[in-house]
Amino acid sequence: MTAPLHSRITGTGSHLPPRRLSNDDMTAMLAARGIETSDAWIVERTGIRARHFAADGINASDLALQAARHALEAAGRTAADLDLIIVATSTPDMVFPSTAAILQHKLGVAGCAAFDLQAVCSGFVYALSVADAMVRAGSARCALVVGAEVFSRILDFNDRTTCVLFGDGAGAVVLEASETPGILASDLHADGRHVGILCVPGTVSGGQVLGDPLLKMDGQAVFKLAVGVLESAARAVLAKAGRTEEDIDWLIPHQANIRIMNGTAKKLKLPSDKLVVTVDEHGNTSAASVPLALDVAVRSGRVQRGDTVLLEGVGGGFTWGAVLLDF
Ligand code: UT7
Repeated sequence: MTAPLHSRITGTGSHLPPRRLSNDDMTAMLAARGIETSDAWIVERTGIRARHFAADGINASDLALQAARHALEAAGRTAADLDLIIVATSTPDMVFPSTAAILQHKLGVAGCAAFDLQAVCSGFVYALSVADAMVRAGSARCALVVGAEVFSRILDFNDRTTCVLFGDGAGAVVLEASETPGILASDLHADGRHVGILCVPGTVSGGQVLGDPLLKMDGQAVFKLAVGVLESAARAVLAKAGRTEEDIDWLIPHQANIRIMNGTAKKLKLPSDKLVVTVDEHGNTSAASVPLALDVAVRSGRVQRGDTVLLEGVGGGFTWGAVLLDF
């Protein structure tokens, strides 16, 4: 089999668990713990208006399954067509095996390669880049790439600086071998010097969780780094693809904070109507945020076939990256 020249997204899907908490719901929940926050603070500082939390017993693989079904349907494929499944997640169902293997079983198939990829909020962009490379190398022809998270499980509801920011959800794409270009270029980075600014420092040992199993973030440090790296990754991926800012039809950055997203669009001189924003409705869903936003933009008719889309991720590690594609 000769390797195809390109990979292309043939379908998108997403899923939010039904339990929706508005900022007022969060304010009431925290007030019961003697902690003060408000809709006004959360909206002004982040742009978030609501987040969705999965019910007890619902895991990342369950959210991934719903998103995957939608993406397969949109691509006109069934799970039997898949020869690769990658799930980007930092909140896997188990320590092992991978959420991707669990998802494969829930999809009712067996045999194809399946693994998880851990790059926190950059996870989907990393996973898409890896799947693209595998398709172009000829080792897969029809890949399912998912970002799925249940961050509600690792939030410290006594820490108002983090617990109001995150939510649960999943997004997925089907990526297929193609004679016409889809993924144009990708640009991935990590800098482990910044491990401590965004982490869940706990670990499992001797049948116990050692250390703190809840999310810690130095929000200001993450903010400052994010603004810089999102601009540099955008410029790098455009240069690799031989394109310019004017060629971008849609910017879909990691949905963490509207101020970071607007700042990135401004640096790239993109009008705000080219920026896809869904953070208001689901908060920061980590690896799920980019494919969630992509699917919303596709299903609402904004992102059309042939549009040039810049996807960007940034988060714990510190990790960051961009994928430029023709949809
Ligand atoms: O997913 C990976 C990427 N993650 C991100 O991109 C997150 C990046 N960081 C951020 O988005 C922002 O830094 C935050 C949203 C986390 C915080 O916004 P900020 O404008 O940097 O606020 P701050 O940390 O400077 O806090 C300002 C004030 C503080 O009070 P004082 O010290 O000025 O009296 C905080 O204690 O806001 C207070 N504060 C809150 N007030 C009400 C912090 N959290 C809350 C809250 N409600 N939930």
